[in-house]
Amino acid sequence: MKNEKPVVVLTRRWPESVEAELAEQYTLIRNATDEAFTADELTEALTQADAVCPTVTDGLTADVFAAAAQKGIRAKLLANFGVGYNHIDLASAQAHGLSITNTPGVLTAATAEIAMTLLLMCARRTGEGERLIRNGDWQGWHPTHMLSTQVTGKTLGIVGMGRIGSALARQAHHGFGMRIIYSSRTPLPESVALELGAEFLPLNEVLAAADFVSLHCPATPETRNLIDAQALAGMRKEAILINTARGDVVVESDLIQALKNSVIAGAGLDVYAHEPSVPDELQGMEQVVLLPHMGSGTQETRQAMGRCAMANLHAYFANRPLPNAIG
Ligand code: DGY
Repeated sequence: MKNEKPVVVLTRRWPESVEAELAEQYTLIRNATDEAFTADELTEALTQADAVCPTVTDGLTADVFAAAAQKGIRAKLLANFGVGYNHIDLASAQAHGLSITNTPGVLTAATAEIAMTLLLMCARRTGEGERLIRNGDWQGWHPTHMLSTQVTGKTLGIVGMGRIGSALARQAHHGFGMRIIYSSRTPLPESVALELGAEFLPLNEVLAAADFVSLHCPATPETRNLIDAQALAGMRKEAILINTARGDVVVESDLIQALKNSVIAGAGLDVYAHEPSVPDELQGMEQVVLLPHMGSGTQETRQAMGRCAMANLHAYFANRPLPNAIG
């Protein structure tokens, strides 16, 4: 009897080499337009494939699972392309018998690089400087031109000291001589804290003491809206907020007000509450650096993410334990 290949849906285009490898082992349904799936398309995918590989642009809500269940859910695995999975209603997915995996570890360095990029860009006003030249407005060097804030030796507050927070702490402490303070669900083991020169403090003390606050906690019900007007008011007037985690962690309207009223000095953002929409008010602010959710966006990392998701698919269809099971 012929062995049918499992059917796998990729909701977005993946790096070519990974898609090619996948196509050898699976009947691959690709998203030819590479546009984000609608709720109907996600429902359809759950009913037509053995595994669906979603990503951050796919709202896998309770309603999507309920609609798919009416037609009959065929999928047994959601192999998410990405470490964050707040776009998936885990309880509904599990209630409908799906296993879920993600891609932790492989995007740590790339995301920490983008956090450091934002931190440096905000502090040193490099976005503004670039715009000045491109607009033809540079009048030449002078001693008081575009003065900015030095990063070296300053205090970095990290909220969420997981893999990415620790990687940023390492770069900041060893590369820029920064003092590291952090708040996290779990304190670092002593030897790691020592290596990073990192001091564990309650969140309000981190916010109050840091020159830069960088967010690295996952988006969960507990961290949703963690950085609101009150938290922002607890930061230093000169402080800069960096967010490469998830837009949900910050109350975007409170951040806009805090920037408008100089409650804090600036912000570097890679993630937003309603991507890809970025509020006009933020776009109009010179003290803000805005990137289009590109933390993990290197060739190397996106391939590694694809391979990590693929390893989870292979394990599932070979009846082996899932390397990166969630929940
Ligand atoms: C991640 O892996 O969480 C990235 O933000 C893309 O989803």
